[in-house]
Amino acid sequence: MDSSVTLGRLELGRAAVSPGALLNGPGARERSAHQQQQHTGTRSGPLGCVPLSHQVAGHKYGVDKVGILQHPDGTVLKQLQPPPRGPRELQFYSMVYAKDCCDPCLLELQQHLPKYYSTWSSPDSPTELYLKLEDVTRHFQKPCIMDVKIGQRSYDPFASQEKREQQIRKYPLMEEIGFLLLGMRVYNVGLDSFDTYDQHYGRGLTQDTVKDGLCKFFYNGDRLRRDVVTASIAKVQSILRWFEKQRQLNFYASSLLFVYEGLPSAQDDKSGTQSLQKNEGVLEYNNNIEQSLSNMYSLHKKACMQSHHPSPQDNSAWHGLLMQSDACEQDTTGQLPEVEVRMIDFAHVFPSEVHDHGYIYGLKNLLKVLQEILDD
Ligand SMILES: Nc1ncnc2c1ncn2[C@@H]1O[C@H](COP(=O)(O)OP(=O)(O)OP(=O)(O)O)[C@@H](O)[C@H]1O
Ligand SMILES: [Mg+2]
Repeated sequence: MDSSVTLGRLELGRAAVSPGALLNGPGARERSAHQQQQHTGTRSGPLGCVPLSHQVAGHKYGVDKVGILQHPDGTVLKQLQPPPRGPRELQFYSMVYAKDCCDPCLLELQQHLPKYYSTWSSPDSPTELYLKLEDVTRHFQKPCIMDVKIGQRSYDPFASQEKREQQIRKYPLMEEIGFLLLGMRVYNVGLDSFDTYDQHYGRGLTQDTVKDGLCKFFYNGDRLRRDVVTASIAKVQSILRWFEKQRQLNFYASSLLFVYEGLPSAQDDKSGTQSLQKNEGVLEYNNNIEQSLSNMYSLHKKACMQSHHPSPQDNSAWHGLLMQSDACEQDTTGQLPEVEVRMIDFAHVFPSEVHDHGYIYGLKNLLKVLQEILDD
């Protein structure tokens, strides 16, 4: 079979979605990318783009030949990998987000993917193509992020024997476990810093240790975020339902990206004002923080003006405000916190006529382990 087989007779047309129409606060994003550059001294990419600061796995810009950037408008730019992988991923996004797409299966799939804003290239090097994608961490102030590769095989049906062996060597348990933790970063509330774990951490996990290994993603240094585990299970189940219906695509070496808010919830926050002051300090370093904070400030001001005791020190007013913000973790009605679980990395997606058994196996085992974490 031909190793360059792609997704069939698909036009590489531009997607219908206009980035300008969908992105929130491009001005704020522009500031954050430049500020990050100033403060971290990172090598600048094309046109003010910077390496994605919160990338947890995959090819890194400036380290590998290609990598992931953040555009000043806050979107993520994934540089096209060399053929056939890059064109295959481009073709996948173009197909799912085609303007005239009326396939209900693909339309449903859109909700599980980052939004796709067509391709992008810098005027300086117009042939260097990037996929312009929604940054799925953008809502969060202290995003905890985990990349989990799903499936029983990390190589596609067209891979050479050498590639197969190389992938199996990397994680011989893939077939049995059906997923592999590629990397994560977890916010430690007490230390106000992130713990990071690279691909070697995941590769060291066995059937006996995978539950505890995964559990670290949901532990904030103080307690297990059971609410986040529950919300994650619901999202993964929704993705599983899509896979149980569809028989047209098979995914290899593709990932799920989990994201949740690391900042403590309104209920946990004993001193709202203190937390506000602390946040001001990190404003300039965090790519994701500005929109949420400015929302909080304006809500805060509004409530102070309406309150009978209009003092910024009034914790009850502050708690009420945190409840309203989109970065809010959980409210008193027992609603689940905002958690993102999105499918990413489509360099090895192929047309098919059967269910994706390997991916389904991986999702089911991942759900089993998440449930065990919850039951402990
Ligand atoms: N849309 C996105 N929003 C936020 N972060 C993202 C997004 N896409 C990718 N990332 C970050 O970049 C990392 C790598 O992404 P991805 O898996 O697509 O690239 P890759 O593994 O280098 O690609 P490939 O396997 O095609 O070589 C992810 O683990 C995640 O941290
Ligand atoms: Mg990847």
